[in-house]
Amino acid sequence: MGKPVYILGIESSCDDTSASVICNAKVLSNIVANQEIHSKYGGVVPELASRAHQQNIVPVIHQAIEKANISKEDLSAVAFTRGPGLMGSLLVGTSFAKSLALGLQIPLIDVNHMQAHILSHFIEESSTKIPPFPFICLTISGGHTQIVKITNHFEMEVLGETIDDAVGEAFDKSAKILGLPYPGGPMIDKYAKLGNPKAFKFTKPKVGDLDFSFSGLKTGILYFIEKNQRINSNFIKENLHDICASIQHTIVEILMDKLKNAVKYSGIKQIAIAGGVSANSEIRNRLHLAEKQFGWTTYIPKFEYTTDNAAMIAITGYLKYLKNEYADVSVTAKARLKVTQ
Ligand code: KG4
Ligand code: ZN
Repeated sequence: MGKPVYILGIESSCDDTSASVICNAKVLSNIVANQEIHSKYGGVVPELASRAHQQNIVPVIHQAIEKANISKEDLSAVAFTRGPGLMGSLLVGTSFAKSLALGLQIPLIDVNHMQAHILSHFIEESSTKIPPFPFICLTISGGHTQIVKITNHFEMEVLGETIDDAVGEAFDKSAKILGLPYPGGPMIDKYAKLGNPKAFKFTKPKVGDLDFSFSGLKTGILYFIEKNQRINSNFIKENLHDICASIQHTIVEILMDKLKNAVKYSGIKQIAIAGGVSANSEIRNRLHLAEKQFGWTTYIPKFEYTTDNAAMIAITGYLKYLKNEYADVSVTAKARLKVTQ
């Protein structure tokens, strides 16, 4: 057995400041500071996010190291999110990671946030299994909706993706129409549990077999709500559970249809999900069912590794550390970065 590798991961791409320490592939700590401030604006305000990261980053990293019960001198490397994300937010994590790595004289490792959502499946946990290669990952978050074929840790191919809104946006924008606070995904999930998913019918979009489109659905929901509110101004209040259940059901149906197409196309039946929307209870249930229904083997991340977190950055950093793939101090944050970059 070699010396244990300790990686500090730092995530600051959007509105969560997070730090995590892992020992090899096991998580010792994973601290996430959510930014409450955005909920009253109905979405993330970049300027406020950047400022909140600056306030949170030191205490969050301190807590992560303390909870891991190590000292910063034990760290083998510092991994950070280089992109994609909001530039002002990314810059906070990037500059902090650089100075920490320089100060401790340890390697600096840049991580692609989209790869990290997928590679969170390689965190060793007693409750989840690790997918074998090749597998298909449906990455569903607030910024992205993709079907990716993973042949090796860093060998990925995008089979399909959204041509407009991300699925998380579809949840959040629908929630906004219903007057629910940001982020609306978890609220829709909560109310959907109490409603009838077949109460209302929304039209599914017509796009390529493996691509997604959610902007039409959002408009359809807006018109449907406006029309019914004109007839009965209490329509939302009286039907909230059924509306949420029906919206969620439509979205999950779209996701399942595309996954079925991806299995047909690739012949791969090892299916993983990742990203914030993979916290959704209906998609998790449907994937469990798909094991019996279609003979798939499904990989559903532990709840805390679905939405943005630094443990996924640390595990990706660890996998790069094993390959000696380090970043130079001249590395810069990138607001746009493809999953394959
Ligand atoms: O991965 P993530 O934390 O951030 C991005 O990289 O975008 O994803 C955030 C998204 C938001 O749109 C949020 O509404 C959605 O994930 N989300 C959910 C649930 N939990 C989070 N959507 C549906 N059901 C949930 N339970
Ligand atoms: Zn994310």
